[in-house]
Amino acid sequence: MEGNGFPQGFLWGAATASAQVEGGWNEGGRTPSIWDVASPKKIKHGENCHTASDHFHHWKEDVALMKEIGLKSYRFSVSWSRVMPEEGKINPEGIAFYKNLVHELVEAGIEPLVTIYHWDMPVWVHKMGGWRSKKIVPLFEEYTKVVVDALSDQVTWWMTMNEPQCFILNGYMAGQHAPFEHAVLEMSKILENTMLAHAAAANAIRANAKKPPKVGIAMATGCFVPENETPEAIQKSYHDTFEKGMGAVSNALWMEPMLAGRPSKAFGVYKVNEATAKAAHVPLDFVGINVYQPMNTSEWGGDGKPQKPGAPKTAMGWTVDGRVLYWTARFLYERYHLPIMVTENGMAENDFICLDGKVHDGMRIDFLHRYLRELKRACDEGIPVLGYQHWSLMDNFEWAEGYDPRFGLIYVDFETGKRTLKDSAYEYAEVIRSNGSTL
Ligand code: NOJ
Repeated sequence: MEGNGFPQGFLWGAATASAQVEGGWNEGGRTPSIWDVASPKKIKHGENCHTASDHFHHWKEDVALMKEIGLKSYRFSVSWSRVMPEEGKINPEGIAFYKNLVHELVEAGIEPLVTIYHWDMPVWVHKMGGWRSKKIVPLFEEYTKVVVDALSDQVTWWMTMNEPQCFILNGYMAGQHAPFEHAVLEMSKILENTMLAHAAAANAIRANAKKPPKVGIAMATGCFVPENETPEAIQKSYHDTFEKGMGAVSNALWMEPMLAGRPSKAFGVYKVNEATAKAAHVPLDFVGINVYQPMNTSEWGGDGKPQKPGAPKTAMGWTVDGRVLYWTARFLYERYHLPIMVTENGMAENDFICLDGKVHDGMRIDFLHRYLRELKRACDEGIPVLGYQHWSLMDNFEWAEGYDPRFGLIYVDFETGKRTLKDSAYEYAEVIRSNGSTL
């Protein structure tokens, strides 16, 4: 269907997260997060996030590069232990770091999109029980209020948390992410704590923001792309996306309570009951979707089709199929009726600086076109898509995978901190300048 394409004011942006880019782990009054103290055995090549992309020292240059690309928005997260290094203590230096960043962004005409929590729990909070303890709800609410008090004179867009599915299931079930635990039997309790913390934070943003806020959450999503576009195939994919195997675990278990106030369950034993679901459901202005690959052809789809030999894959081994962006936006909108913000989408490549001093990341350019054409289709069909935040602005620390997978539009030399715009950054600049008509 030919439509109007991307709406005026569409937020073309890029995203990062504090633990992945900041570094400065023990500077400016900050205390460690659970990722700073991760055993080297848990992270590829024994790497750590202590310096990461050194954004803590390069933030001004980074905002200048965002301006050069022409970004309209920048999604970043706040490091809890930088602003609250101990229980009940606010760190003025930490607050100043984010205030300065926000100010610089606004001066550059770039809309800040703030994620309150992107996985880097302070060690002191973890010691109090972390997501396993009910105490997390008031602690998270208090922390949110501190951030909102500091930044909401210039920030409109807020996400309470990023991918609760991942930091809980990878962190407390699979044990692959910090805090590397296997609290399988406590999972229903942990789900409840997480969802109530989200609700408390969303309410705290609304109650305390100085500028009228737009409140949301960034969800990990999984989506079965229909085999063809017959109503039956579409209905089957929609059903599987929310009810089947990993679809139930990564989508419905979380989204039903938080986005619709309905109880949910998965694996037979993980349950969110009706009372918790009601309490977890607070009004949101948008839902953020992090989208990478379809479930029907990916290994972590589990019960999906096996990948065909030679299927296109990124350096993470993730399938390249742009249709997943369209179908995720469509299915989520059909089910929850919330405007959509693409809070993450992108690919890892083994990029390097070529002999001519440039980074020729042709695959990422192709990826951008493939995925964004599908997003344009969603816009054409009237799905309210508010913006697109490419993951990532710059190469960074990919959690347990360390520094090998490079996701950035900007290449980072992790030894010197030198930044180089990749070819994809220049291409994205053209997409933004034309509001998507070059796609
Ligand atoms: C999901 C996470 O939010 C982000 O932290 C991560 O780096 C990307 N996806 C890529 O794996």
